[in-house]
Amino acid sequence: MSDVAGAVLIDAAREAATNAHAPYSRFAVGAALLLEDGTVIPGANFENASYGLSLCAETAALAAANTAGRLREVVAIGVVGGKIRAGRLHGSDPVRPCGRCRQILIEAAQLGGRDIVVHCASGDGSVVERHLLSELLPHAFGPDDLGMN
Ligand code: THU
Repeated sequence: MSDVAGAVLIDAAREAATNAHAPYSRFAVGAALLLEDGTVIPGANFENASYGLSLCAETAALAAANTAGRLREVVAIGVVGGKIRAGRLHGSDPVRPCGRCRQILIEAAQLGGRDIVVHCASGDGSVVERHLLSELLPHAFGPDDLGMN
């Protein structure tokens, strides 16, 4: 995948982050999934007053892809996040999917029969990384282990 596609996904993720519901952490995260045909599906973190029930942006996007019946079509994801100040994302550390989100990404990857490219950006835009899901969660347990493919 080209860096151009990664930049488009990060832009879409940054736009999605404007809809983050993050009044508790004040840490907004946006995610954007790229499907095989070029469709982009966004997600934003969705916090909850009970804290523990909060949903990450990546999980929100993957749930939307599932709702559209398109979980198997995910080829890449862009993620960006940071503390919100003056309506902007801050911070120079790229946001990488948490452990739970990596496991949920494995569901899409294995059902689709492919690795997923993971683009991670910092809030201030100064750092962008490109990973493969298989590097972020090696030796993963997933649908393949249950004979789903
Ligand atoms: N968060 C995400 O949405 N994705 C990640 O990969 C890391 C963390 C959210 C969860 C919570 O709403 C906030 O960021 C602070 O942890």
